Amino acid sequence: MSKQPKRLRRCQLAVPGSSDKMMTKAASLGVDHVFLDLEDAVAPNAKVEARGQIVNALNTLDFGSTIRCVRINDLDTHYAYEDIITVVEGAGDKIDTILVPKVRNACDVRFVDRLLTQIEMKLGITRRIGIELLIEEAEAMMRVDEIAGASDRIEALIFGMGDYSASQGIDTRAIAGDSGYPGDIWHYARFKMIVAARTYGLDAVDGPFVNFRDGDWFRTECVRAKQLGAVGKWAIHPSQVAIAQEVFSPSQEEVDKAYEAVAAYREAQEQGLGAIQVDGQMVDVATVRLVQKVIDQAELAGIKPSEGL
Ligand code: COA
Ligand code: MG
Repeated sequence: MSKQPKRLRRCQLAVPGSSDKMMTKAASLGVDHVFLDLEDAVAPNAKVEARGQIVNALNTLDFGSTIRCVRINDLDTHYAYEDIITVVEGAGDKIDTILVPKVRNACDVRFVDRLLTQIEMKLGITRRIGIELLIEEAEAMMRVDEIAGASDRIEALIFGMGDYSASQGIDTRAIAGDSGYPGDIWHYARFKMIVAARTYGLDAVDGPFVNFRDGDWFRTECVRAKQLGAVGKWAIHPSQVAIAQEVFSPSQEEVDKAYEAVAAYREAQEQGLGAIQVDGQMVDVATVRLVQKVIDQAELAGIKPSEGL
């Protein structure tokens, strides 16, 4: 079970760590979360320099309330351990989470956890750095339960559909848009990962949608992920940020209804009733549990109930 603080993750923006310009822009966008990337967005010959660029960005840019995350290279490369050491030693007090790609099993997570513990001890960092994990290998999907419970630093699981497709061997024509596959091609994978995330009290986040000019389909993907319990989606381009942050915010109407249901139920309980009706709908303890997620999300997003509620 995570011991980390709850954070707002309606949108996680991917930003190449080799681009000072994009990191500067990312800090000004008001996005919930950015991850400064050392992995796929950075060419091999730019990776070492990008570590320093990320340290510099974290130490000099004002990210406001945006969560600051760094994506390291995967643990099968020789980059990963130095990625962690360099960025955490250089800017550890400015890093909220480390994002680990292509994790395969619980040992991968424990390796990162131990390394972070050692660096935090050395530097005297008391605010623990969280871990986010990309579930994008078939093996990770198989072991998602053991992975989700591997460390109390874990805050979020992210379904990375691009690499996942390669790992499973999914037909590339079935990946983007409406492919004719009967049903949603990601249904099982999303569902499985979100169940594991929720079991351990973690956020579930939906991965990237590369056709960034197609805002309508991006919105559809956000809605599908949200319907299953995801709290946010990645963006690879600034134009996707507003869409994700809107879809993953509860509407004012939803928030008001949630507060109404909780208040009505509290009143009913005081009168010794377990189930009541509000606007033609039954409200009982299960309903209250269901709407609690809306209230939690609203509180994180700073959305207050309308006056009088
Ligand atoms: N973060 C911050 N700023 C970004 C951005 C990002 N991910 N993507 C684009 N921008 C900026 C551009 O620099 C440009 O800024 P400007 O108006 O100040 O010049 C503006 O947003 C508009 O960008 P645009 O011209 O439409 O796109 P582009 O050709 O510059 O970039 C990509 C397109 C795909 C190369 C770029 O969006 C990108 O690198 N995305 C992230 C890729 C990534 O991280 N992949 C790995 C994770 S899946
Ligand atoms: Mg990937």
